Amino acid sequence: MNVIDLFRLDGRVAIVTGAHAWLGYDMACALAEAGCHVVVTSRDEARASETAGKLGDTYDVETLGLPLDQRSHEQTVAMAKAAFDWKGRIDILINNAGGGSGNSPGRIHERDPEDEANMIATNLTGCLNCCKEVSRYMVEAGYGKIINIASAAALIGRDRRMYDRSDMAGQPVDYAAAKAGVIGLTQDLAGMLSPKGVYVNAISPGGFEKPGNLPDTFVAEFADGAMLGRWGRMGIDLKGAALFLASAASDYVTAHNLVVDGGFSAWK
Ligand SMILES: NC(=O)c1ccc[n+]([C@@H]2O[C@H](COP(=O)([O-])OP(=O)(O)OC[C@H]3O[C@@H](n4cnc5c(N)ncnc54)[C@H](O)[C@@H]3O)[C@@H](O)[C@H]2O)c1
Repeated sequence: MNVIDLFRLDGRVAIVTGAHAWLGYDMACALAEAGCHVVVTSRDEARASETAGKLGDTYDVETLGLPLDQRSHEQTVAMAKAAFDWKGRIDILINNAGGGSGNSPGRIHERDPEDEANMIATNLTGCLNCCKEVSRYMVEAGYGKIINIASAAALIGRDRRMYDRSDMAGQPVDYAAAKAGVIGLTQDLAGMLSPKGVYVNAISPGGFEKPGNLPDTFVAEFADGAMLGRWGRMGIDLKGAALFLASAASDYVTAHNLVVDGGFSAWK
């Protein structure tokens, strides 16, 4: 078989959660470019429709926008049903929605317990909700590819001195805890669903730069912390990993955590 054909997704249907912008949008574009019909979700229904419209205008595929706050199990059930009813199949789920740290500082003793609970609900319980409710349809069909977006933050501790030097409170430990949970969920669920033809993998991105929202000193120091000496590029650096795990190119890969961090987590 032609190796490029292994990456084609013609006629497949994917859900990408939280795909309005940044990495979620990038991954939705990657799948659409490979021929996949795409459901995008956002907490804001109008944003979901807007993003679906933009994707459909850019690529030769059909798209659908659906509302989802994945902290709610009820909303997740409704989203999964609506996505399935659209084309009678769901082949791929990218659990991208997450992030966010709330308004309280990242330092553990200053952190608001409500923000911690919200972090876990968004990043871990939300991912679990989506895995659970979407995989029902995949198990029924005997096929599915689930990709959970974790983080390099789940793999290593952070050098908080780097944040202090730029006068930043830093990312809270509850983010690392939630994302580490996502990796555990991925591995155990892969074992549970592999006899049903459902693959479950994770991607752990390192720092992907969003223009203009961080101090220059931190941006430079963080880039230097990666073996490749730079941040991940939005619009480019996560697309290949997502397409690989979504397609037949990864048909002997499950329970894997693909680290896309420029080497950040692999040296001291
Ligand atoms: N940007 C990075 O450097 C980086 C690094 C490692 C991991 N990640 C992870 O990659 C994913 C995408 O990150 P990003 O930086 O591109 O975007 P982001 O973190 O700004 O947001 C992701 C999306 O999730 C949505 N979301 C938040 N809470 C939600 C909820 N309760 N229900 C449904 N949707 C919700 C947001 O609205 C947004 O569209 C996240 O899971 C993030 O944790 C990002």
